[in-house]
Amino acid sequence: MDIMVIGGGGREHAVIKALKRSKNAGKIYCLPGNGGIAADAECCPIKATDIDGVVAFATSHGIDFAVVTPDDPLVLGMVDALEEAGIPCFGPNKRAAIIEGSKIFSKQLMQKYGIPTAKCAVFDDPDEAISYLEKTSYPTVIKADGLALGKGAVIVNSLEEARAAVDDMMVKKVFGASGSRVLIEEFLTGPEVSVLSFTDGKTIVPMISSMDHKRALDGDKGLNTGGMGTVAPNPYYTEEVQQRCMREIFLPTINAMNSEGRTFKGCLYFGLMITADGPKVIEYNCRFGDPETQVVLPLLESDLLEIMIATRNGTLLETPVRFSKDSACCVVVASSGYPTKYKTGFEITLPKTSDGEEIYVAGAKLEDGRLVTSGGRVLGAVATAGTLSKAIKKAYALADEVSFEGAYKRGDIGARALAALGE
Ligand code: AMP
Ligand code: GLY
Repeated sequence: MDIMVIGGGGREHAVIKALKRSKNAGKIYCLPGNGGIAADAECCPIKATDIDGVVAFATSHGIDFAVVTPDDPLVLGMVDALEEAGIPCFGPNKRAAIIEGSKIFSKQLMQKYGIPTAKCAVFDDPDEAISYLEKTSYPTVIKADGLALGKGAVIVNSLEEARAAVDDMMVKKVFGASGSRVLIEEFLTGPEVSVLSFTDGKTIVPMISSMDHKRALDGDKGLNTGGMGTVAPNPYYTEEVQQRCMREIFLPTINAMNSEGRTFKGCLYFGLMITADGPKVIEYNCRFGDPETQVVLPLLESDLLEIMIATRNGTLLETPVRFSKDSACCVVVASSGYPTKYKTGFEITLPKTSDGEEIYVAGAKLEDGRLVTSGGRVLGAVATAGTLSKAIKKAYALADEVSFEGAYKRGDIGARALAALGE
C-alpha cells in the first residue's frame, strides 16, 4: 500500500520509520517532510494545511492510505476532505478534532460527563476576566481557547502577571482568534503523564505511557518549549493509576464523544496530572504527541499500518497492539537560543545508528545535498534498552555524537523518572 504522511517534524519521522516496518507498507510520501525525513520517504513541498493541494496530490499519486499527524490540518478538516475524495485516513474528522481545537469544548465535555479535570471559568470579555482574577487565589492558569502552537497556557503567580496574560491573549491577540475566549483554571500539582491511545470510537487501547520535559533548561527551568525530551514508560503511571484512568477518563471520554455525535477515531492523547485526588485531565490532543511519539513508537512491536487501518475501519478490538517491556529515551538537540531567537543554516553531522538507536529529524533541510539546520528543535536522539537508565545513557551518547554549530540539549532528560524509580 502506498502511504502519505502529512506533517514534517520529528514525530512524523518516527511514524514513518514505524510504518516502514509494517508488512504491507509500499512507497511512503511525506508532505511536506524535511531534509532528514527525505532519507526515509519521498518528501513533497506541499503545506500540511493546504487541503486542496494534499487531496490533489493523494488522488494523482494513487495513495492507498493517509496519516494526518499535526493538529492544525486535523482541526481544519483534512481527514474529512481526504475521505470525501475516497482516500482512507488515520486521524479524527473535524467534528472530533475539536477536542483539541477548542479547550472550552473539551472542558465543557469533561464537566458534562464527570471526567476529572481542573475547575475553571470561561470568559470572552477581558474586563470580566480581570474582575474574576482580582478575587481568585494564585498561582492560577490562564489558557487561550484555540490552538496556540502549544504556548496557549500560562501559569501566573500574581494579579499583575494575570493582567498581562489577559492583555496579551484577549486584547493584543498574540495567538490571534485563539485568544478571543480564555479559560481561567485551578492550578493543580502532581507529576504529569502523557498517554497516547489508539481508538476506533468503540475500543480504546492506551499505548505505553511517557513523560515530556517541556521547559528549556535543566531542572525544569526556563521557558516552555515544544518538548526537550521524553522517556517511556512513565514511572508515575502505576498499574493502579492506569486502571483508574481507564475507568474514570479514557472510556468516559470516548463514550462522551459518541454521545455528542463526535465519534473520535485516531490517536487520542491524554495529558494527565496525577494529583492527590487522583488522575485529572490537563489537556486532550487529537493526535500523536511530539516528542512523545519518538519514545512510544520504537517500543511498538505490532504492525503500525495494520493498527491504523483497524482504527479507521472500527476493527481495533481484533487487532494486536503490543509494546516491548523495554524503556526508551529521546534527547532533543535544539538550536541554541530556542525557544526564542536562534540562527539556522548550520551543517549537521549525524552519527551512524546501531540497533536500538534512532535519529528523528525535526528542523533540518537539504541544501546542495548537505543537511543544515532550519528550525528550533533540530532532531531527537532516541535509544531503547532493557532499563531506563541504560536507555538514557545510550540516548545521551548518541546525542553527543550529533554536531552542528550551537547545538543545545538539556542534560537531565529522564532524571526525574529515574529518581521516581529510586535509581
Ligand atoms: P497545556 O497547553 O494545557 O498542555 O498546558 C501546558 C502545561 O501547563 C502543562 O503541561 C502543565 O505543565 C501546565 N498546566 C496546564 N494546566 C494546568 C493546571 N490546571 N494546573 C497546573 N499546571 C497546568
Ligand atoms: N508534547 C506535547 C504535545 O505534543 O502537545
